[in-house]
Amino acid sequence: MSDYAKGLEGVTAAETQMSYIDGTAGILEYVGIPIGELGSHSTFEETVFLLWNNRLPTRAELDGFTKDLRARYRLPDGFIDRIRACPQDAQPMHVLRTLVSALALYDKNPNANDVPSAREKGLNILGCTPAIVAAFDRHRRGLDPVAPDSSLSFAENFLYMLNGTKPTPTMARAFDICMILHADHGLNNSTFTARVVISTLSDVYSALTAAIGSLRGPLHGGANEEVMVMLNEIPSVDAAEKYVMDKLERKELIMGFGHRVYKAKDPRASHLQVLAKQLATDTGNQALFEKSNKIEQIMHRERAAKGIYPNVDFYSATTYHCIGLKLDLFTPMFAMSRLAGWTGHIIEQLSDNRLFRPKAKYVGPHNAPYVPIDQRG
Ligand code: ACO
Repeated sequence: MSDYAKGLEGVTAAETQMSYIDGTAGILEYVGIPIGELGSHSTFEETVFLLWNNRLPTRAELDGFTKDLRARYRLPDGFIDRIRACPQDAQPMHVLRTLVSALALYDKNPNANDVPSAREKGLNILGCTPAIVAAFDRHRRGLDPVAPDSSLSFAENFLYMLNGTKPTPTMARAFDICMILHADHGLNNSTFTARVVISTLSDVYSALTAAIGSLRGPLHGGANEEVMVMLNEIPSVDAAEKYVMDKLERKELIMGFGHRVYKAKDPRASHLQVLAKQLATDTGNQALFEKSNKIEQIMHRERAAKGIYPNVDFYSATTYHCIGLKLDLFTPMFAMSRLAGWTGHIIEQLSDNRLFRPKAKYVGPHNAPYVPIDQRG
């Protein structure tokens, strides 16, 4: 079978109007707009509208969409008891996956998957997921949940519910930019997962739950946490050289580097690098940023020829740390943002659906004898 592509490398499996990626030139656009432009000028709310409507909103449309999203910040009645029932030492990504799935139980019509229903459910889930993450983090710290504040933006509201105090404009904007940069990225593994699940005409909850499970993996969204683990393991900037070279020698991965599509620097990494530098200076975390910078220099010298550059996860680790987020919340932050992209892809899939059903190349024996159980060696 000559059409086998391990890991589906190079296979085009869907059409999308949301993200355009040129991995050789290091270009990412949402609906044609370069990601750097959106990171500099847009907001997460406007970006979600863009992804779901394939155009920027008018002022009135943005106000309406923002109001609609804010009306969904609150969790369903009684849901907080489910959060309180989670073991305090549970991992946030497992909590998030479980509780996004549980939201279906509060939906009177969870299986509706016509496009308007899917959009509505996606908006609901996007709106209240920050409350799940924030309330669980407070629960494990022995603190009561903080009710959402619908006068705040998506980014402000999350940090408010997490910390119990309103974030500074600088922190809120930094977090908002992270949300914009992580919102969509072509047919990455978790997005493909969401599309595969919804293509069976299952439901939005199942598709998003599966996507969260995919994102958790360290080869995908879980890499941002692994980057932070690595930065913590390196005691100083000077120690970075030996640490990286030893790992490469052992043929181990340097997390936050490499990408199936990019063979140049991921443009989101470039944007996050600038943000991380500023935040590190503001928060006294210069050493962390300098360590990251040093690792990038070493990797450039050692692996740029192989097309291995920083990906989105590399500088997002320093950025999230400077915003004050705990290490195991990094991947949930990615999920909170990527819910926008996953939902957009679910809408695209449902708009022109065909069941995903690739083939497997059989490599086992044929015509094998059935050996009775007491004669097996
Ligand atoms: N550090 C060191 N070497 C690497 C790295 C890395 N981070 N990434 C790839 N390589 C090497 C591989 O060892 C391989 O070398 P070889 O040709 O000598 O065998 C070569 O580069 C090609 O790598 P593949 O694993 O074949 O590339 P693939 O496209 O399958 O994987 C992936 C891409 C999974 C992202 C990989 O680069 C990786 O594991 N990176 C680290 C984890 C990470 O940062 N993931 C986040 C990706 S972005 C995202 O999902 C949000």
